[in-house]
Amino acid sequence: MRGGGFFSVLFVLFPILFLLSLPSAAKPAIFSRDFHATWAGSHIKQLNNGIAIQLLLDQSSGCGFASNNKFMFGHVSMKIKLIPGDSAGTVTAFYLNSDTEAVRDELDFEFLGNRSGHPYTVQTNVYAHGKGDREQRVNLWFDPSADFHTYSIFWNRQHIVFFVDAIPIRVFKNNQARGVAYPNAQPMGIYSTLWNADNWATRGGLEKIDWSKAPFYAYYKDFNIEACAVPGAPSHCNTLSNWWDAPSYHQLSPIQARAYRWVRLHHMVYDYCTDRPRNPVPPPECFAGI
Ligand SMILES: *[C@@H]1O[C@H](CO)[C@@H](O)[C@H](O)[C@H]1NC(C)=O
Repeated sequence: MRGGGFFSVLFVLFPILFLLSLPSAAKPAIFSRDFHATWAGSHIKQLNNGIAIQLLLDQSSGCGFASNNKFMFGHVSMKIKLIPGDSAGTVTAFYLNSDTEAVRDELDFEFLGNRSGHPYTVQTNVYAHGKGDREQRVNLWFDPSADFHTYSIFWNRQHIVFFVDAIPIRVFKNNQARGVAYPNAQPMGIYSTLWNADNWATRGGLEKIDWSKAPFYAYYKDFNIEACAVPGAPSHCNTLSNWWDAPSYHQLSPIQARAYRWVRLHHMVYDYCTDRPRNPVPPPECFAGI
């Protein structure tokens, strides 16, 4: 009964959380207009005139796509339905990336598959100015292959928040005052890939892909980008008048903070901050709270 009590509270709070996380009308992106294939386009199939897409992984290849624009700050969300059944060894990723190798900024969602009946793990990571190694892992409290769920990244000058549906699962605050680099100087594109990562993804690489179950499919829809597009008119990215700059978005709301504590308490399975062999002295951002 992991977190059963709070779970029911969350259901009551869901409509409120939803409103808080999507403050303005959705502006749906269309795959054929806003994205392009970056890897094995033959493995990507558009459905419903580009409103939804299907990614395929088989023994010959995985595949990937990226946005045509880069963005500075905002909120990016997608509904994703992950590979059902035995997905061990597969990784489906959704991330923002500045594409500037040595000084790369990158915000990662990686969905690590598992054997049938075992929970999917969501790994998040934050690279700022080339420095990553900030993995956290949460085991999902639902079956993400049974239906579409919303995965989103909120990014402003104060913090970065990763959401699963309307639940914050990760917060990375701007701790430049503590000498921690923060991604606020480079625009980032939106990327997604599906690939074979059975050398590390599931139980540390012990569980391999069962190719007899291939091909594997992941589905995406409802691409929603509310962010400042670059190129375009970069000056509008420097104003403080976008909705994500409002003071109410400078930190989690009390309801979001409560949901975040629930995730950390009941569903977090790994945090680089508490991995003592790896970080005998926890990095400075680990002490900053939310
Ligand atoms: C897979 O399932 C095992 C056993 O239930 C669990 O320990 C692990 O966290 C799950 N996720 C991954 C990515 O291995």
